[in-house]
Amino acid sequence: MQDHKLIVISNREPYIHQRRGEQIEVIRPASGLVTALEPILRQFGGLWIAHASGSADFETANERGEIQVPPSHPTYTLRRVALSREEELGYYYGFANEGLWPLCHLAHTRPIFRLSDWEHYQAVNQRFAWALPPESSGKNSLILIQDYHFALLPRFLKRRFNGATQRPRIGLFWHIPWPNPETFGICPWNQELLHGMLGSDVIGFHTQYHCNNFLETCNRYLEARIDWEKFSVTMDQHETLIRAFPIGIDPSPVRTLNQQEIHQLKARYGIQAEIVAVGVDRLDYTKGLVERVEAIERLLEKYPHYRGRLSLVQMGSPSRTHIPAYRALSDQLHQAVERVNTRFGSESYQPIVFLPEHHEWGEIQYFYQMGDLCLVTSLHDGMNLVAKEYVWCQAAERGALILSKFTGASRELTEALIINPYSIEELADSIATAIELPVAERTRRMLAMKEKIQSQNAFHWATHQIRALLTGTTTPSTLAQAS
Ligand code: G6P
Repeated sequence: MQDHKLIVISNREPYIHQRRGEQIEVIRPASGLVTALEPILRQFGGLWIAHASGSADFETANERGEIQVPPSHPTYTLRRVALSREEELGYYYGFANEGLWPLCHLAHTRPIFRLSDWEHYQAVNQRFAWALPPESSGKNSLILIQDYHFALLPRFLKRRFNGATQRPRIGLFWHIPWPNPETFGICPWNQELLHGMLGSDVIGFHTQYHCNNFLETCNRYLEARIDWEKFSVTMDQHETLIRAFPIGIDPSPVRTLNQQEIHQLKARYGIQAEIVAVGVDRLDYTKGLVERVEAIERLLEKYPHYRGRLSLVQMGSPSRTHIPAYRALSDQLHQAVERVNTRFGSESYQPIVFLPEHHEWGEIQYFYQMGDLCLVTSLHDGMNLVAKEYVWCQAAERGALILSKFTGASRELTEALIINPYSIEELADSIATAIELPVAERTRRMLAMKEKIQSQNAFHWATHQIRALLTGTTTPSTLAQAS
């Protein structure tokens, strides 16, 4: 990396400066992408370009919209790009989150494609292509574009740097699932999106299955050469490698709470139950949150001896609240929680302790340690880093992970209790199984998962991608463990 400059482009910024009256607050957003990438930038330095989403973002930046971060000990530059309200509505809420998000997640929410959103999406992608400083045009720059907000950006960047004698290497990482060709064909601009993505030198997904879907999609909709041996697509005489790079977390040690501190934390939130299940999610319809609440209800119905003894503590970070499908989910979830609490709760006991607000990592890691088990019930998820964070933070002899088979994480964390979140019965039963797991068995499973999380961490994820970008190859181990 010494000879290269890392440039990351994502919609979500790693630090949001928000004005609250006289004060300016720094917020770390709830985003798996940020969780995984931030340690990389902290370690290697470089430039991160992102949408300015905080009300005090420009007050705290210089005239180029730049600020050195992390605020406490700066190691890299964050460059903020301003979007108008119309652009944010069309590009972010509209095309990215009402169109591509439900298109790629099979969660039965119908994607909406509006021409005006598409026009904003194109314009904003174009804008980010010009947000890169001119000096990033050289071969020493490594540009890592993140996620479905920027499918067109690789092609735009390639065009921008066309005149350069040796242009920079461009990688695109798609953090969400890639659907099958039929599903992707629903999008009226499917060819334009694929063509845009193929401006990259390497495109990464979390699993080999998503790579296969992508190749099949290109095969179906493009006049391109697909190499099934090499796993590449060649179009307009440019070859793009398609690779699986399963994302991980920063495996830095966390402070372990003692029993007394855990009791204090429980007391602070009025948790009386002796057994605690935790859930940590953005309030998103892909996360299977209503199903989770229904499973707790079924558990208490079917196994009455857990009444009064088990609570689900659900942290829910509000997300994309401008979108009707998200507001509907929030209403549905509140109603489900209320129903279960009314049915099985008492003055001193709530089966579901719902905390629908943003929480910082400093707090989340302690909630994980409070959780005798953790519920990850996504209906569909690219990876899901909550599963990995929980295993990493919780003591081996205390933890148990219930993990949806529709997450990328379930391909790696095979020692979890793997479930189908659409089956409320199975989910309820697996909670009972997790509670009753003998200590030796839960320790064995947790230790095996901790080992994987330690080795397949965020740094490995980044290193494998960077190696693929620089050399055009991936190590056999990357391919083997991803498939
Ligand atoms: C997913 C996406 C990320 C996104 C995150 C939070 O993990 O893959 O790109 O940052 O959700 O969503 P938000 O819309 O708040 O950035």
